[in-house]
Amino acid sequence: MVYMLKFINKLKRYFNKVIFRTPGVEFLQKNKDIKTRTKYLNFWFNKVKNKKNFKRFFLDSDLPLDELPIRFIQDENYTISENMLNSLALNGVIVIENALPKNEFLNIKDYFEDLKSGRYKKDWENKPDNPLFFTQADEVRGLIDIQNFSSLKRYSDYISKKIYGKSVKPTVEFHYLNIRDKVEEVTRGATYLHSDRFLPHFKIFYTPNKIERDTAPFQYSLGSHKLNSKYFNFFKNAENYDETDKFSKDLLGKLETITTEENTMYIAFTNGLHKRTCFTEKNKERSMVFLQYVERYNKFNYLF
Ligand SMILES: [Fe+2]
Repeated sequence: MVYMLKFINKLKRYFNKVIFRTPGVEFLQKNKDIKTRTKYLNFWFNKVKNKKNFKRFFLDSDLPLDELPIRFIQDENYTISENMLNSLALNGVIVIENALPKNEFLNIKDYFEDLKSGRYKKDWENKPDNPLFFTQADEVRGLIDIQNFSSLKRYSDYISKKIYGKSVKPTVEFHYLNIRDKVEEVTRGATYLHSDRFLPHFKIFYTPNKIERDTAPFQYSLGSHKLNSKYFNFFKNAENYDETDKFSKDLLGKLETITTEENTMYIAFTNGLHKRTCFTEKNKERSMVFLQYVERYNKFNYLF
């Protein structure tokens, strides 16, 4: 019975990851012809236009930039306000300080202690591993079910419903990153300003710790998530889908550096231009929880 369930879960994951996978830049990488790219992008952008919820966040752009605050301090209700959503729609990123109630904040700290110590006693879905994404940083990644964190789950359900039109269960990854011996150099796809994919897309980040300038804060190009003509031109002409592309210059807006206090959550539309900056000092560490939706909000959801 257990084997059967495991098999079914594996099959589900395969379908979600391979067959129903959300379109990314792979097609554009294979097809450099501008006409072919235009057709492809138009097809998907039309699908986006047909979704009521996407309109507010990714299409409307009548509000002036800089008018709404990006940083918020949470009160004891721990809810997402309309002001927060308006700012997210305008800027593509918001920061919420004092995001979780104390017990959940401390609980998350415990999970990071477990990763850091290498004991792995917590209920991780698999044995935590190093994704080997960065050459100069040691990283441990642990996957876990959102059910373990009730306030985070409440935020996630609410925000995903507002953006996607339905609550989507996130993939939750804990990442503990440590830079030991030297100052870090840039890594394509991470520490260059880049777009994750051309379709509307978002991630929720949560850190229990303070993140300062020297501890590799996230950076976001404000307003770069809107599907306008600059955005279209960028994807139509891009080679690398990052700041090394000529057309990224038009898309680049004011850069916001997301330094944080402890117990901070930030939400970003990662189809817009963003990066993690480099560690500029030795022996620095970072603990970050990533909530991602790409596995369960997939190709079919965009299509129908
Ligand atoms: Fe990214």
